[in-house]
Parts: sequence; structure tokens; C-alpha cells
Amino acid sequence: MLFPDYRPRRLRQSEALRKMIRETALSTSDLILPLFAIDGKGVKNPIDAMPGHYQLSIDNLVKVAGDAFALDIPAVILFGIPSKKDPLGTQAYAKDGIVQRAIKALKDKLPDLVVITDVCLCEYTDHGHCGFVVGQTVDNDATLELLAKTALSHAKAGADMVAPSDMMDGRVAEIRTVLDENDFSQVPIMSYAAKYCSAFYGPFREAAQSAPQFGDRRTYQMDPANAREAIREATMDVEEGADIIMVKPALPYLDIISRIRDEVDLPVAAYNVSGEFSMIKAAEKMGWIDGQKVMMETLIGIKRAGADLILTYFAMEAAKIINV
Ligand code: PBG
Repeated sequence: MLFPDYRPRRLRQSEALRKMIRETALSTSDLILPLFAIDGKGVKNPIDAMPGHYQLSIDNLVKVAGDAFALDIPAVILFGIPSKKDPLGTQAYAKDGIVQRAIKALKDKLPDLVVITDVCLCEYTDHGHCGFVVGQTVDNDATLELLAKTALSHAKAGADMVAPSDMMDGRVAEIRTVLDENDFSQVPIMSYAAKYCSAFYGPFREAAQSAPQFGDRRTYQMDPANAREAIREATMDVEEGADIIMVKPALPYLDIISRIRDEVDLPVAAYNVSGEFSMIKAAEKMGWIDGQKVMMETLIGIKRAGADLILTYFAMEAAKIINV
């Protein structure tokens, strides 16, 4: 149908009509809030490039999680900043590690909040890489055992879901096996399946103190130029037993979200990462954009591309707007 018979503007005349034909909706239940746990009491260290976000001691973390839950945000994802780091990242799987204690405190105070944990070693290793380092490289197969140990320690502490973000080959299968062997067959795995080697993680690495001390992550995270490879990564993780497939970052990779949505029938998550958050906050501070509107447009764009779930530092701000 062509103009003048078809006039697309007919259905844009009023907010009521626009609402009736709206194709995508953003709900608070789509949102997952990332939180950073650090030792101490009453600690709330601001993260420079991420206004409104902090390294939180467990007491404060429970408060923020409670605020998020009160806004109908169903889930948080936890990152830990340990007080000591070593070559094997032993604090990642320590029984009394920072994340393990944070999980217990959260499940104790907020039993209905879904507690997801990031499973990786980079915050816990002194070299800042996501695995066991031999010479200048990360040894894939030797790392798998450490990752599975970390996931198991999270499950034992009460985590509702584990999310491996290391990008080692075969980690989903290894984690699934170890969880199942230990009676945690009910704990789902949200796999960072297509995780790109991205400069957009900059502010996060400041927050989590996890920048690699030599080299970079190009030998394990994906090349930003590759799309077909993302499908292979996602398919592999489905076959290894993942329950949710994640794409990360979100904005420069909307095509990947869309393609994975078409190829895979599991729920798809997208991580709207730290640098994507910081850019909007910075431009808003400069007075160059309307931060709230750009935030909502960004989140609906990620959903429209095909994400069912969005991990985002905007979760609480967006929930306040959605709930109005
Ligand atoms: C840990 C991890 C990272 C992020 C999530 N999990 C950092 C990295 O891979 O360097 C980044 C999240 C963000 O930038 O918001 N491997």
C-alpha cells in the first residue's frame, strides 16, 4: 500500500493510539542490577566514571539491593573486590570470600531476590587475567577447574544463578557437570556466550580493580569484527547446558543480539556495560543530551533487538520511570 492510501502517520496521532500499536515494552522484570561488593562496614566508595554506583560493603549492598527489589527489579548480579589477590585467584572460590558472604547476607534478608553471581577470576588474580596464567598466556583447560570451583562455591553460599564471564572454551559444560555432581542441578547458568574484547569495559575495571597487568584479553574475548563466530559461541554454550545466553556489550552489538535471538530458543540477555552507561552520564553532565530520554531509548533499543533481559547500571533509574 502506498501513499496516499496508506498514511503511517494516522496511527501516530495520539498517545493512546501510539500505545496501542507499540511493539516493544520494557518492564522492571527485564532488568538486572550489577553490584560491587567490598570488605568492611559502612563502606560506599563512589566509582568515578559511574555516577550513582559504589563499591559497597555487605551492609550497604543489602540496603541497595533492598531498594532495587522494592522497585520491582527481580535480580542483581554480584561482583567481588577481594582484599587480597594472588596468581590463582583463590579468593574467587574461598568459602568466606567477599561474594560468598554477600550472597548469604542477601538471601538472608531478601530471600525472594534472584541473586546471580559473575563467575570469573580477573577480580581475584594479581595479574588481572580471567584464568590460570602460564608464561604470558591463559591456560584454558587448567582454568576450567578453578571456574567450576568458583561457581560451586557460589551455589553452596546460596546463589540462585551463576554467570561465567571468562570466555574460556568448555567452561559451561565443566560448570554444569560440577554443579550437577554436587546436587545443584537446579542452579541455572547464564553464559556470557558472545563477550567481545571491548574498550567499553574501562569504567568497570576501575570499579572492580580488574585491569590486566600485562597484555590484554584478545586471546580469549571475541574480536569485535566477528558475527558468525558469535553464533558458534552461542550454539556451543546451548549444547554445553547454558540456560540463558548473553551478549556483551549491548549497543555496538545489537546485530549480534538480533541474530542470536533468531538462532537460539533460550532466553537472551544483553549486558549494557559500564562504558555505555558512562558515556550517557558524561554527555548528560555536559548538558549535551537529555540523559533520561537517552537511557530509555537505549534500553528499549536493546529489547527491540531481541534481548529478554538487560543487565544495566540504569536499572534503578529506569525502574523509577517505568513504575510511574
Ligand atoms: C569479568 C567481567 C567484566 C565485565 C563483566 N564481567 C570485565 C572484563 O571482562 O574485563 C564488564 C562489565 C562492564 O563493563 O560493565 N570478566
